[in-house]
Order: sequence, then C-alpha cells, then structure tokens
Amino acid sequence: MAQLLTVSRAARLVGVSRGTLQKKIRKNELETFEGMIQVSDLLRVYPKAQLEDDSSLERVRLIKAQASPSSREQPQLPTPEVLATRLTSLSRELVETRQDLQHYANLVQQLAERLHTLQQQHPSVAVQSLLDWLTTELAQRSQVSPRKTELLVKDTFLRLLSASVKVIPSGKEFFVEGQHSLLEAALNAGLSMNYGCTSGNCGACKARVLSGETLKIREHSYALSASEQNLGYVLMCSYTAVTDTVLEAAEAQSAEDIPAQRINAQLKQRTEIGEDLLIVQVQTPKHQSLRFMAGQSVRLTLHPDSAEAFSAQYPIASCPCDGQHLQFHIRRRANKAFTRTLFAETQVGDPVRLEGPIGICGLCKEESAPLVFVAQGDGFAALKSLIEQAVSADRAESLRLYWIASEPAGHYMNNLCRAWTDALDNFSYLPLLSHAHEPDAAWVAQAIAADHADLSRRQFHVAGGAAFVAHLRELLIQQQLPAAQYFVLENAHEPA
Ligand code: FES
Repeated sequence: MAQLLTVSRAARLVGVSRGTLQKKIRKNELETFEGMIQVSDLLRVYPKAQLEDDSSLERVRLIKAQASPSSREQPQLPTPEVLATRLTSLSRELVETRQDLQHYANLVQQLAERLHTLQQQHPSVAVQSLLDWLTTELAQRSQVSPRKTELLVKDTFLRLLSASVKVIPSGKEFFVEGQHSLLEAALNAGLSMNYGCTSGNCGACKARVLSGETLKIREHSYALSASEQNLGYVLMCSYTAVTDTVLEAAEAQSAEDIPAQRINAQLKQRTEIGEDLLIVQVQTPKHQSLRFMAGQSVRLTLHPDSAEAFSAQYPIASCPCDGQHLQFHIRRRANKAFTRTLFAETQVGDPVRLEGPIGICGLCKEESAPLVFVAQGDGFAALKSLIEQAVSADRAESLRLYWIASEPAGHYMNNLCRAWTDALDNFSYLPLLSHAHEPDAAWVAQAIAADHADLSRRQFHVAGGAAFVAHLRELLIQQQLPAAQYFVLENAHEPA
C-alpha cells in the first residue's frame, strides 16, 4: 500500500518550504494524488534529504518566532494530556494496521495453500508460474528501503509533536504545535481567520470540526448552543487540535471583512536608528489584539486623552499573525507635530490609541505565485509586514526583495533581510543604492530585468514615493508584467 503525505507534511520531512514543493508539482517533477504525495516519490526527488537533520526546519521556525513574539513565549511541547491523547490515537492506528496486515497475511497464506493443492491435483504451467511469482514477491517483503522507514519514523514522531489542520473551504493547512490554540496556530501560519476577543467571549472564531479530535484548553464565557455542540462547533481561541483535523471555518477574504477597531494601547519599546528614525513597538491589552491584514495601516494618536493629542497614519511593519505586538518605523519630520512629539516627549509606557486598520490587503491575491517586493526608502516598513506574512503562510513559490535607498544607512534592517536570506530557501534580497544619473525606478527596473527574463507569473508589491511607484509600474509593464499583478501599498512612504 502506498504511503501518502500531505504537501505540508512532506515539506517538513525534507526540510524545504511548501512553496518549493508546490513549484516541483507545478513543473511535474513531483506527482500528487488528490493533493497527496507518495513517500517513494518524495525520496526520488529528495534522495539526499537529511532526515535526521532538522536544521533548516529550525531556521524557518526561528524566523516565524521572530515574526510572532508571542510564539516565543509559548512552551514548544504539547501538554501531557495532548501528548497522551496523540499517543493513544497513534497506538490505535498501529493496532488497526497490524490487524489489517494479519488479515492480508492470512489471505496470502491461504491463497498459496490453495494454489499448491490445485497444482498437485491439476498440474499446470500457469499455476506453477503464479506460485513461483508469489514465492519471489513474498521473499522481497523484507527489502523495505531503510530511508523510507526513516522518513516514516520521523513523520510519526512529528505527528506526536504537532497536529495538522486543514481548513474548509479554502483548503489551507497549518500545524498546531506546543500549547497553541487553533486560532493562534492558524494566525501564526498566515491565515486570516475570523476572530474578535481571542479569549472566548465573543464567539467570532466559531468553527466546525468535520473530522479529527480537538481539546478544550481554556474555559470560555461564550456559550455554544446544544445544536452547535452536536454539530461539532468549537471556539478556535479556546481549543487545540489533538489529532489531524479538518475544520470548517470562516476566513477574511478582503480588507472589507475586517471590522474597524479602536484600541487603547501602550508604547512598549522605542529603538533609535541613527538620529531621525524610530522603530516603535506598541502593545495592545492582553485580550484585545488588533485584527488586520498585511499591508494595512493604522492611525496612531499620542497623548490620546489630553488636549495635546497628535495623530498620524502609519503602515504596520509587523506580521498580522501577532495583533498584540505591533511595529512601526517612524521617520523624524521637522514640520510634523506628531513626529516632533514622538521623538521629544514620549517614553515607554505612554498610552497610544490605535484606530484602523486602514487600506487594502496586500496579499489577498494568489499567494503561491512568485512574489517580488520593491521598497524605496522607508517603504520597507509596509513591505516587512507582507514578507513576514508570506513567510508565515509558506505558500509562495519564491520571495525576492529589492530595497533601494539613497545612502547605505537607508537599509536600516539589512541584517534582518540577510537573516531571511540565510534561513529561507526561497527568499533572496538585493539592496540597491540610488544612482546619481538614473532615476530610482529605472535603476530598479534594470536590476529586475537582469534577474527575471519573464515577469508574466510574478506578483509585484511596491512601496515608495508616488513618482517612484508610478514610474516603476510603467517600466515593468514595458517588460511584459501584466498590470493587474502590480500592487502599490498606499500611504507607505509618505504618512500623514
Ligand atoms: S475570538 Fe472571541 S470567542 Fe474566540
């Protein structure tokens, strides 16, 4: 019997991104059967996969943990109760498989005996040939590939540590690891689930379990009706997956699906980069995360309850997978009261009001296409959220970042970009410096042309000054980029 794996499980086992496997599937280098991959096929394509070496998986985990500070705080092991239930489930599967095997072994034995009897009573060349074939095949039974065994053992071990969840109708998959709830795990994996309070009060994260086993991990005050319970509904923020699960759940499809929010938060951290750039972390209250999509902005208000309140709109520079810890990159502007106040008069612990989210969703389109990000200067802030979302989602075939700045210090997160390059097999980065005799857009378009002969499948996300994004669009369309595949992140470079 062929052993089949989901694309997500297969990618984990050989330590590559899901996007990399999907690229091989699209090129017919790897076959799938109803979305599943045969173990033998996987080993044919990755004969040198180091099954005992999890370093690439660990590197990707680290990047995802950086994208979501909350996941660093979570223990990585499931609770003893979850582990015990998974062990029970795997043991049951083992017993059933053994019973099946015994049944088939008995059948083969009886068949062989009947063929022998038949051959003795009515000697025949055909029956003898069948007997010979059966004897040879049975002798080969013990020649199971050690690498195949190794891979299946590793798969079983990973199944003990994490459960795979498939969401219907989108078909997206994610893994539930450690002590995460279904909601936390889905958000960490870049899914835009419906949710509200994250603490079992509102019912917005209600989902129906179609198969698999889930476990309540925290009490919730929202009461599911008896009929909802009978139909298998759970609250994603209060349950975890114990075994592989199929879940029917609502996901936001566009920015319109995200409600307007107003949250009283706190300035948690401020890091000065040079003299005129601040990286600011804002933290929301524990049970009031900001729900947003990658590429969106919010309105920040300093001193919100005083007569001296100042507001400005900025792109969120962190992953939507963590709506509690939000990052903003804020450039000092002498003529703006907001930045003057922020740089000179605020300190960690000060109140900050958030209103939003505002703007379009950056990655609502086809996420498995090769993604190209182009930032001019501080436009990197808005793209950072998109990149972290794409890394979390792990669906894009490839991710390429071009970042053009007027001076070397303009690449103020160079180390982060290089860390992405080192950790992710499908990410690459090209920092560019403005050219004295060439507009930025022309300079970037030349670099893109040198890298990509064919732009027809690529999806561009661009953040920068208005003249830059308009000029680059024109140049890339001349390079045969379909206009519908060029997305501009509004308000990214020139906040109000
Ligand atoms: S998000 Fe409110 S009940 Fe789960």
